[in-house]
Amino acid sequence: MAKLFTEEENTLLTRTGPGTPMGTLMRRYWFPAFLSERLPSTDADPFEINLLGERLVAFRGRSGQVGLMDARCPHRRASLVLARTEDDCALRCIYHGWKINADGRVLETPPEPPNSRFAQSVRHTAYPTREAGGIVWTYMGPPELRPEFPMWPFNALSGDQVWANHFYQPSNWLQGLEGDLDAAHGGYLHYSRDEWERQRNSNSRLGKFLFDPRPQTAAEPASWGLQTAFRYHLEDESEAVFWIHPLVSPFFTMFSHAEDGVDGGLFHAWVPSDDTSHYVYSVVWRAGGPLTASDRARIDTTQGYTAVDKGNGYVSANWDGYRYRQDRASMTEGRSFSGFEGVHLQDLAIQHSMGPIVDRTGENLCTEDYLVIQARRFFLETLKKLERGEELPGLAPDMDYSAIEHRWVFAPADTSLAEVLASKDWDSSAEENTRDVSTVKDAWSALGH
Ligand code: FES
Ligand SMILES: [Fe+2]
Repeated sequence: MAKLFTEEENTLLTRTGPGTPMGTLMRRYWFPAFLSERLPSTDADPFEINLLGERLVAFRGRSGQVGLMDARCPHRRASLVLARTEDDCALRCIYHGWKINADGRVLETPPEPPNSRFAQSVRHTAYPTREAGGIVWTYMGPPELRPEFPMWPFNALSGDQVWANHFYQPSNWLQGLEGDLDAAHGGYLHYSRDEWERQRNSNSRLGKFLFDPRPQTAAEPASWGLQTAFRYHLEDESEAVFWIHPLVSPFFTMFSHAEDGVDGGLFHAWVPSDDTSHYVYSVVWRAGGPLTASDRARIDTTQGYTAVDKGNGYVSANWDGYRYRQDRASMTEGRSFSGFEGVHLQDLAIQHSMGPIVDRTGENLCTEDYLVIQARRFFLETLKKLERGEELPGLAPDMDYSAIEHRWVFAPADTSLAEVLASKDWDSSAEENTRDVSTVKDAWSALGH
């Protein structure tokens, strides 16, 4: 059987360094560079971060502005991570004292003769930054093509309405993103008995969420990417919940997120660090008011961020060099399908297990993988648009990131996915669970345990 994706296509989609097609595409968008908390104050130490295969230094100037530039001094390439921070958002290299500001201008070259104009002839690679919702964003593309800063729904809110986190994942960005388009894995990889009990006893209509072993999916092209829908049956199998779940170019997705009691949503981004690692971002927001300390603690747990090692580059604290401390007893005792606790650890462990860059020529894709296939086709088509110089998804001047639809919809199970994608007039309320939940089928029984 012919393979759906060739080695050349796999290489095209997974390489994001300077000059690569996918890297060039990604550099046309604003995206998260790191969490603001990594530079908590103006005297925070500069730190090194790789983004899209570029070795960068991040620092905060006395004004509070964040600088992001090539980590190697333009003089003789000493590390600017060791540099002194100066009062006007600039770094001074400790080797020979060159001073470089956040715009990439070399302000001083002290060992040069007093009248030297040499400094003005040197440009250092530096990228603009914007801070919003606890995230420092950057744009690494050509200055003349820089789009407006994207007003994702949470970027317009105050910091107390936004929960933002990231962790480092040692695998290629695409296998991370593809996890969000994989509708069927939720009932397997993410199954935990405690979580199942919590949901079935909850007051939410989603408490009726049945372990659906064969969810259906559909996708429609949108001006900003691919609008997708997943269908999962509810307890009464004549009803279903449909997730309207956008994939936004080049590596963003959004979900509705009533589950954590928030009226906003959940945003994900898979930002390549280099070709064999990336940062996975999650943002949860409440449009109607602040998230309390207890909301944040709950989201930390449900999103699986309690075991991120912040002091060690945001790697998983469960990484033991082998298998993320998989709890085999929890598998045999029926507490967990995967032996991993928390959605993110489950995704991280399984995606890392696929290798640093999946060899997609070895796959056997099936019906279940419809959206994964559509997403790869979308990226390949977008690369063709880039090559032809056409407008890229999400970069039209009137693009409104706050209007991208992302929600849960309750509807009769025989509603077609096309109808759900075509109409905005669906019931999205997750409140009120009036029916007896004692008859909810148990996912674990469905698996034959
Ligand atoms: S290497 Fe940085 S000033 Fe010389
Ligand atoms: Fe997942």
